[in-house]
Parts: sequence; structure tokens; C-alpha cells
Amino acid sequence: MKGIILAGGSATRLYPLSKSISKQIMPVYDKPMIYYPLSTLMLAGIREVLIISTPRDLPVFRELLGSGQTLGMKFEYIVQHTPNGLAQAFVLGERFIGGSPVCLILGDNVFYGQNFSRMLEKTGLVEDGACIFGYYVKDPRAYGVVEFDESGKVLSIEEKPEKPKSNYAVPGLYFYDNTVALRAKALKPSARGEYEITDLNCTYLKEGKLRVEIFGRGFAWLDTGNCDSLLDASNFVATIQNRQGFYVACIEEIAWRKGWIDNSSLERIGMKLVKTEYGKYILSLIN
Ligand code: DAU
Repeated sequence: MKGIILAGGSATRLYPLSKSISKQIMPVYDKPMIYYPLSTLMLAGIREVLIISTPRDLPVFRELLGSGQTLGMKFEYIVQHTPNGLAQAFVLGERFIGGSPVCLILGDNVFYGQNFSRMLEKTGLVEDGACIFGYYVKDPRAYGVVEFDESGKVLSIEEKPEKPKSNYAVPGLYFYDNTVALRAKALKPSARGEYEITDLNCTYLKEGKLRVEIFGRGFAWLDTGNCDSLLDASNFVATIQNRQGFYVACIEEIAWRKGWIDNSSLERIGMKLVKTEYGKYILSLIN
């Protein structure tokens, strides 16, 4: 299984910033936003990751994350010149994907909850078809929305409907088999001019190959689409970390717990960051 993080777009809906600045560069509490989706892929056991971003920001991500070697991983980078839609990730990433199944995560989505790793490992076994998720929200109009019948069978998925058929929003985490690039290439732009992930999901739905897993109410899915949700996400991470002492999305800790790096590699990284609380936390794991 390979992974793709889509970390482009622009932050203009968030702050008065230049159009070319993507928000995944900014921090959620004490670490860059991109650490959160990256940690989710890592928890799913994914070690090969393609990062897609704007021409301006891709070099910053490359400088931040490098080849992935220090995490026992492998990172590749591709520019998306214009934000033409989420499904474009698979067209840009076709060579990277090769014949593998692939997981796409949006660079501005934060997931946190018990048994998440186990759920991801189970879901990651998609050989034929696709698996997406449903999460109950009060107002789903800003999202893809999935409709079920009484037996839990998926009836439809609609992108940002004015009159949603359910309260189940589709989070920005998607697992696909190796037909995804071909399907993405065959899509037509939507009325708003984008290659929609929802249209891609509908191709699987039509063939009876789409599974939707529900995240329960004890689970946290946060996005960072506006100033309030960005602040909520930062406060959420701060609350968990300060209460428990465990870090959310410490990518070095995950790599170490997975056995992808050893104690001395972890110590080296911790020493470089020793002036920060983040670095001290890393060192505390082995001392
Ligand atoms: O967050 C989950 C939702 O994400 C889903 O429920 C929707 O079905 C899906 O369409 C998407 O909706 P958004 O309105 O949140 O998508 P947005 O255009 O804001 O893009 C999400 C992130 O992806 C954002 O950080 C920018 C980045 N992006 C977006 C596009 C369209 C890119 O990097 N490239 C793109 O072409």
C-alpha cells in the first residue's frame, strides 16, 4: 500500500494570504499541519508516500521532510500547478502508484481516536474496490455526504449538497485499489470545474465496490477549513497532549514504535530538536 498526501490548494479561505501559500505549511498547535495526515498514513503501516503541493510550497515540504530516510520511509514529491480537484492526485501520482493499492489523505485533515491503527490496518487491505469513511456531523453541507438505507447499504454520495440526505460527512481519507488512476483519468470536471473525489467514489459505488466504514462518536475528525476549525484543532491537540503527556502526531515516535528506526536514530533526531518541547518529548521516549 502506498500513500498520497494532497497538500496544495491555497489558504485564502483561511487568512488574507497570497493565493499560492498552502495552509499545510502552518502549524496546528506545536507542529506543522502536514505531520497529522502523515502520521495517519504511518499508523496505517504505509512507508512510501507521495507529497503533492504547489510550486511555491513543495520545496518547503521537501526541506522539512526530506527523503524520508530518517523515519525509515521513502518520500516523493510532485507539483500540482493548479488546484483542479482532489481526484487529480491519482493522475499526477500514476507513476508513483504503479500497480499498488493506494491511500489518499488530505493535508488539512486531523484524525484521532482509540483503535485507529487497528481500524486502518484492517481497512488498508483493499485489493478490489474502495473504502471510505462516514462521520456524523451537525452540518454536513460543506462535505461529501453519504446516504445509507436501513441495512447500512450505501445509496448515494453527493458533494456539498444544499439539502443533505444524511448527517454522514465523508472525511478526507480514502483507500483505493490499483484501478484508481485509470478511473481518475476518465473523470470530467464538475460544474465548479474540479475533478471531484466524490465522482471518483461514485464509479466504485455504481459497480458495488465501495465500502463505507463509520467512525463512531468517540472518534475525532477535525478539519482546518476555517479559522474556528483551525483553532479547535490546535486546542484539541493541546488538551490531549497536556493532559496525557502523549504527543499527537509525533512522526518520529510512530516510526520508532513501528520499528522503522532504532533508539540511536531517535536520539539523534531528538538532540537536533532539543531546544523545543517536541525534541525533549522525543528524547524522553528512550531515557
Ligand atoms: O475534508 C473532507 C472533504 O474534502 C470531503 O468531504 C469532500 O468530499 C471533498 O471534496 C473535500 O472538500 P473540501 O471543500 O474540504 O476540499 P478543498 O477544496 O478545501 O480541498 C481540501 C484540501 O486539499 C485543501 O487543503 C486544499 C487541498 N487541495 C484541494 C484541491 C481542490 C489540493 O491540494 N489540490 C486541489 O486541487
